[in-house]
Amino acid sequence: MTTAAVVYRSSSGTTRQLAEEIGEHLRAHGIDARVQSVGEAQPAALAEADLVLLGCWTSGLFVVAQHPDEPWLAFVRDLPPLARSRVGLFTTYKLATGSMFARMRAALDTRAPHVDLELKSRGGHLTDGGRAALDRFAGIPAASA
Ligand SMILES: Cc1cc2nc3c(=O)[nH]c(=O)nc-3n(C[C@H](O)[C@H](O)[C@H](O)COP(=O)(O)O)c2cc1C
Repeated sequence: MTTAAVVYRSSSGTTRQLAEEIGEHLRAHGIDARVQSVGEAQPAALAEADLVLLGCWTSGLFVVAQHPDEPWLAFVRDLPPLARSRVGLFTTYKLATGSMFARMRAALDTRAPHVDLELKSRGGHLTDGGRAALDRFAGIPAASA
């Protein structure tokens, strides 16, 4: 069975909501998905997962300087190389994600040289487009999506 680790950092609950919806969608398609906050997850355990999805709320000056917050960065610094995992990123935001994904990728650095999904949501819900992108990332056939 394919395994997925969905790890989020949320300040007021929106990104947690998105993480839960991602986890539910993956489980509905037979993937053994575990959803945890950065405070709950063990960084070393992520290297065992087939799919790793890392999410953080967008922090910045609304039009510029978007970045993940320090607890997310601290978690990522503790990650081992995710050599056998397919890695995706997700965020929630209000106006613009700007430099958010670039900053998340930069923080991952060589731990995950390839990021195969960048998913964003304004309200913390999976949109049809987001679900389709998640399906492609997770290898869920379009016919059963
Ligand atoms: C201090 C602060 C800075 C923010 N900066 C941005 C920003 O630069 N761009 C944006 O689109 N949203 C920004 N937001 C909105 C949040 O990214 C958005 O509300 C997010 O969904 C919150 O997620 P959470 O409920 O998981 O904490 C900011 C919110 C706060 C509190």
